[in-house]
Amino acid sequence: MAAQERTQVGIIGAGPAGLLLARLLKLHGIDSVILEARTRDYVEARVRAGVLEQGTVGLLEEAGVAERLHRDGLVHNGVEIAANGQRLRIDFRALTDKTVTVYGQTEVTRDLIAARLAGDGPIVWKAADVAIHGIESDRPRLGYRLAGVEHTLICDFVAGCDGFHGVSRPSLPAALGQTFERTYPFGWLGILADVPPCSDELIYASHPRGFALASMRSPTRSRYYIQCSLDEKIEEWPDARIWDELKLRLGSEPVPDITTGPSIEKSIAPLRSFVSTPMQHGRLFLTGDAAHIVPPTGAKGLNLAASDVHYLCRALVAHYGKGNDDLLNGYSNTALARVWKAERFSWWMTMLLHRLHPETSFEAQMQRAELDYLASSQAAQTVLAENYVGLPF
Ligand code: PHB
Repeated sequence: MAAQERTQVGIIGAGPAGLLLARLLKLHGIDSVILEARTRDYVEARVRAGVLEQGTVGLLEEAGVAERLHRDGLVHNGVEIAANGQRLRIDFRALTDKTVTVYGQTEVTRDLIAARLAGDGPIVWKAADVAIHGIESDRPRLGYRLAGVEHTLICDFVAGCDGFHGVSRPSLPAALGQTFERTYPFGWLGILADVPPCSDELIYASHPRGFALASMRSPTRSRYYIQCSLDEKIEEWPDARIWDELKLRLGSEPVPDITTGPSIEKSIAPLRSFVSTPMQHGRLFLTGDAAHIVPPTGAKGLNLAASDVHYLCRALVAHYGKGNDDLLNGYSNTALARVWKAERFSWWMTMLLHRLHPETSFEAQMQRAELDYLASSQAAQTVLAENYVGLPF
């Protein structure tokens, strides 16, 4: 048995990129079908980052899914950098007149799924073995299997929003592209717990024992991270050991007391910078992690996915509305100009704050000089603030 369907834009992946694209397209009268390999429960439960740039909040407003975000999200006017026993506050509002909003990616995803399922169009959950055919033709097709039945989805365009491990990027002809990569010799161990945050704002700490980050999801839920080595196992990190290490790295002085409690999620992730160019070929367009990865230090991953989606949506609207393909043809170049700046910022924040080996290396001295400069120069603080709140798109 085989089933055939037809849509305008076939979207692979029901993460925030695919869902936001589908929602914005629908508001412009463009239909899509979303294929997702996982279940709804899985997608709605995965824990990801939690800082939204002002531009991302604006896009979610435009998409009509910002009600809960405005009710439960926490507007932050700055962040703190803790280094050498001192805390430096970077005042976003004073330096850039912008803010960021702390609201979990998990919640963004739930809001977008609810909007989609309230009448926008289908999400096919558990779509197995998705394959992309004919991207150089004007009728690309997506093959997939659902409950043992083969399906074909005939599309005008395909949006690859299926993350770093998805099928979309490998479906671009490798010979036409190039990849750029930087791996780092450390990872982040993250813990989520229902305890009040230790501070009103995020604290990025550079410490001789390694980097630490105090973040949050709400006034009663905290998210912390510590730098760890790549060969460490999560079993070696019972909650008590993580809390002890956080206290050491964030310091009882000058950081207020940390409230500890049982973890509700715990994981280790490697850090990576990665860009695959171009982000399009024929009628296949990549967005978000399918095309690029940033280390989490600047909280840019979700925000970059959102700006990609903005550019792609605008281009598809010009195609269907005016028959003008200039924006579609320029999509990759337009998106990459912003991607590379976020890659630069995320790499810089990572190299600034993590413990490097050996301590006496030239890079470690550069790090000290950079932190010193940041503390003494408003121009340097403005550079950090302007990038953190998000460059325009
Ligand atoms: C988080 O809250 O998960 C988070 C915040 C800031 C980052 C990375 C992750 O830079």
